Amino acid sequence: MNTPANSPEPTPVATSYWAIVPAAGSGKRMGAGKPKQYLPLAGKPLIAHTLENILQWPGLAGVIVAIAADDSEFEHLAAAQDSRVHTVTGGAERADSVLAALDFLSERAAPETSVLVHDAARPMVSRKDIESLLAAGATALLAQPASDTIKQSRDKSGEPTVEQTLPRDRIWLAQTPQKAPLAVLLNALKTGLAQAPETITDEASALELAGYHPQLVPACRSNFKITHPADLILAEALLQHRQTLEKLQSGTDT
Ligand code: C5P
Repeated sequence: MNTPANSPEPTPVATSYWAIVPAAGSGKRMGAGKPKQYLPLAGKPLIAHTLENILQWPGLAGVIVAIAADDSEFEHLAAAQDSRVHTVTGGAERADSVLAALDFLSERAAPETSVLVHDAARPMVSRKDIESLLAAGATALLAQPASDTIKQSRDKSGEPTVEQTLPRDRIWLAQTPQKAPLAVLLNALKTGLAQAPETITDEASALELAGYHPQLVPACRSNFKITHPADLILAEALLQHRQTLEKLQSGTDT
């Protein structure tokens, strides 16, 4: 594990691990009147692309999808018919949805089982990135090194103005999947949510609070999160060039 005393050591690619997909959000930022995971992307719901991608990850044992209590669409997806796909009812926040899936898994898998938590809204994570993440330290996440200059604003009210420029050479933008052993993540999330729920915005933040230093694995640019309506247009264009993209990604940094 990547504890403070332990710098990240590459580990062999896991042969069996689980994926967790929190998909119980309402997607309010999209303003589309339906949860964003069900918005159409290149002819099918966004989450269908994400699940079909995940089901091709090498060595995957199964996927647990956290869905909303009133979800009536998931069961109609082709991927939902795959015997490796399981569902649980999600919670009020993303972390609660992940916890529900971890609880489900802890009754079926060993505590040291590796778990990759992946947003339903990132349909285009590349095979190369998944292989890099699987080969990384026991706690690790995909992330993008900041390429723009980073400004910190003065406060959140009114027109934002700059307080300072942050040195960007150590700034990374966290993405998913985020990886950890099942029991480590379960404990970290439970403790983090009890102690400082407002700081738990991803799995890594819970692990950090517990004293871990997850490894940052550079991700290809196609692994962006669909958040605003324009992102769907961008994703659709990229999906049309998927084969070319995968070729580029397997060779160079994109
Ligand atoms: O809203 P945001 O893009 O940050 O959500 C990230 C992921 O977490 C989405 O896949 C969303 O469906 C999921 N989520 C969840 N349960 C919640 C809130 C969000 O599973 N209560």
